Amino acid sequence: MTNDVKSPKMIKSSDEIAKMKVAGKLAAQTLEMIEQHVQPGISTGELDRICHDYIVNQIDCIPAPLNYNGFPKSICTSINQVVCHGIPDDNRVLKNGDIMNIDVTVIKDGYHGDTSKMFFVGKKQPHAERLVSITQECLYKAIEICKPGTNLGDIGYVIQKHAEDNHYSVVRDYCGHGIGKVFHEDPQILHYGNPRTGMELKAGMCFTIEPMINLGTHKTKLSKNDGWTVETIDGRLSAQWEHTLTITDDGCEVLTARSEESL
Ligand code: MF3
Ligand code: CO
Ligand code: CO
Repeated sequence: MTNDVKSPKMIKSSDEIAKMKVAGKLAAQTLEMIEQHVQPGISTGELDRICHDYIVNQIDCIPAPLNYNGFPKSICTSINQVVCHGIPDDNRVLKNGDIMNIDVTVIKDGYHGDTSKMFFVGKKQPHAERLVSITQECLYKAIEICKPGTNLGDIGYVIQKHAEDNHYSVVRDYCGHGIGKVFHEDPQILHYGNPRTGMELKAGMCFTIEPMINLGTHKTKLSKNDGWTVETIDGRLSAQWEHTLTITDDGCEVLTARSEESL
């Protein structure tokens, strides 16, 4: 009983990693599919229906968020000051100048693929574009150092350093996570920290890195209305990018890479 859902192993077998690759690819494909629909005038409820239909009927997967701890929809849509876990809503229509994270997690053959990206709605505003780019660079800098022997604190450190060097802040209240048969498993991947601290990465680990970076304070508040939506307390913009990756013998492989990326 060491490999049940209550005590998942942190090191996956090559058979499990093969399944994680399939799930990761399909999650990435869902983000590629939805891009064309992200336009001023569409509601986040409609984006959820399009993704749900694609995930269930086109790629034969399960949308992991749906009913996860009571979450009511199949994707998360987090707009502007929303940090994460925004709930798609037919009454939230995208406006020119909005920025939005869409977070997709699919389950294929029992394994999860979890990934998110930022979208610009209509015109890109320079201050938003800069936040979104730096946040993506934070993710890429973290991925670059992932290999056996890297410490978890090194991942947090490179993200925090790049964010703070650019006068942004790193959200502390939510983190990346181990992933496999279980959506959120050990280890926790903090997006801040100190070099050469924390657990060492080992080949076969699978986890997400998903930095949430704010224009103002790092502090967040949870919506009292829906119990899910996380917002910045100062109401300023937040951005997030997420990949699922696995540690290889000499580096890492990003399981949720999109064709627009060179990873
Ligand atoms: N996909 C999110 C993550 O990156 C989790 C969403 S959980 C939900 O970990 F319930 F809000 F959908
Ligand atoms: Co995640
Ligand atoms: Co996610």
